Amino acid sequence: MTAAREDLVARAIAAQHRAYAPYSRFSVGAAVLAGGEIFEGANLENASFPLSVCAERNAIAAAVLAGKRELEAVAVCTSASPPSAPCGACRQVLLEFAPDPAAVTVTAVNPAGERRTWTLAQLLPDGFNGRELPDKP
Ligand code: THU
Repeated sequence: MTAAREDLVARAIAAQHRAYAPYSRFSVGAAVLAGGEIFEGANLENASFPLSVCAERNAIAAAVLAGKRELEAVAVCTSASPPSAPCGACRQVLLEFAPDPAAVTVTAVNPAGERRTWTLAQLLPDGFNGRELPDKP
């Protein structure tokens, strides 16, 4: 694994500690590499459960807000064993910002050191990317 990827994984592990997950007690940290910079996110739950937002979507939102829309890699940290893969909704939102989903690696880790890696294309094959929509910019 490259030094850059190790950095991304370390940031996802750090972000997990800042999750707000009092209802599920399933803390998730995420880090995305976009435009050469790393952005973190953690899950943020709400007493009105469906309003909760996943770590991965908060991380990509931080990247986009900073003007970085080109997703290069993702790391996700949960305490699950084996490490949890991103949910379907997050896969779809990540795809929106992936110029080449086959080149975006997604690494799932846990604090025990277990790892699983895929590409975004493997996690969401034939995903809906909006090209079918009329007048897509
Ligand atoms: N969660 C994430 O943050 N990312 C995922 O990909 C899967 C689920 C969060 C949502 C909720 O706060 C908790 O994990 C349990 O579903």
